[in-house]
Amino acid sequence: MNELTGKNILIGVTGGIAAYKVVEVVSRLKKLGAEVRVVMTRAAAEFVAPRTFQEITKNPVSVEMFAGTVNFHVEHIALANFADVLLIAPATANFLAKAAHGIADDLLTTIVLATTAPMMVAPSMNTRMLEHPATQANLKILENRGVKIIDAEIGLLACGTSGKGRLSEPENICAEIVKFFAPKILEGKKILVTAGGTIEPIDPVRFIGNRSSGKMGYEIAKAAQIYGAEVILISGNAAVDAPDNVKFVKVETAEQMRAAVLAEYETVDAVIMSAAVSDYRVKNVAAQKIKKSNETLTLELVKNPDILKELGQHKSHQLLVGFAAETENVIEYARGKIAEKNLDFIVANDVSQEGAGFSVDTNIASLINRAGDVENLPKMSKAELAERIIRRVAESI
Ligand code: C5P
Repeated sequence: MNELTGKNILIGVTGGIAAYKVVEVVSRLKKLGAEVRVVMTRAAAEFVAPRTFQEITKNPVSVEMFAGTVNFHVEHIALANFADVLLIAPATANFLAKAAHGIADDLLTTIVLATTAPMMVAPSMNTRMLEHPATQANLKILENRGVKIIDAEIGLLACGTSGKGRLSEPENICAEIVKFFAPKILEGKKILVTAGGTIEPIDPVRFIGNRSSGKMGYEIAKAAQIYGAEVILISGNAAVDAPDNVKFVKVETAEQMRAAVLAEYETVDAVIMSAAVSDYRVKNVAAQKIKKSNETLTLELVKNPDILKELGQHKSHQLLVGFAAETENVIEYARGKIAEKNLDFIVANDVSQEGAGFSVDTNIASLINRAGDVENLPKMSKAELAERIIRRVAESI
């Protein structure tokens, strides 16, 4: 999906070694459909050739205020007007100081004063420079003025030391831009998402689990947050990192997940239950590690609570979305589940298909509502499917 189609992004590149990483930022933004123009400071042009950005953006790259004779007096105004958002990456300590105090001594800093577009800055510098009271004060000034600071990360720096000061990863910078443009259709709404697979202990070292990676649910949580919702992510076992800016609750068993979900249920507007909850648990969990003494071992399993069904039974105002992973008669079973669990809609998929289901990055799903209407979606990334689901939720609450 081209989330940034029709969006004009002006990127100011200042003179830090991380300038090379911004090539990737630009490339990603272009792939997302944005129109990108780049302005570089003279120092930045020492690190990366303007031509590199020129080739990727397919637009001229401006460095000098008084370059040639080409309408210099309108260029900064034209670029200032072009921008729907102005991103400075990497932002050096020098740039931050100038921007904070309204100094306009080159093309980029002049644009900063001339534009009414919102500004984002992604600082990158040596740790001591970043932590210097002057830099910190300048960041505060900018933040108080409404500038979005995309925080530097901790890591190995070009100067050979390790600490805070690395430019935020291109993926993260682009996510911030996408978030900036996303319509806040879930503003003021609280969404509970469950994800990952629950695990059921057998003894202190073993458990019964499933192949859920958590990818689908984590993408849903991310999308809900991008669209402005307050998000609670209750997660079982997962193979992916928790998204930022969500309330993250880690659980292991189905019973723990049930307790965590019920604790939040009354306060939320929607529950999206994408977790793969174990249907059974071991009846008598061994207190000590089970020895391999016998030829066979029998575990007695008892049924776990069906969390979603319970939510359906006690539904007041909440929108309930379930998942149905099947290997046959997908639509038929999914329709049955809507009725059985009192759901508003269900995301059904045939996990036996290639490119769908557990662990992979894509999914092939159908969205089915209470009336039984089916929207068959083509194979798409889990991130894109998450967005579709979230849009449907936003339409319904
Ligand atoms: O009945 P089935 O397990 O196929 O239903 C799947 C849906 O129900 C999923 O949304 C899943 O998260 C939820 N579920 C649950 N508690 C269980 C089993 C499944 O909430 N014990």
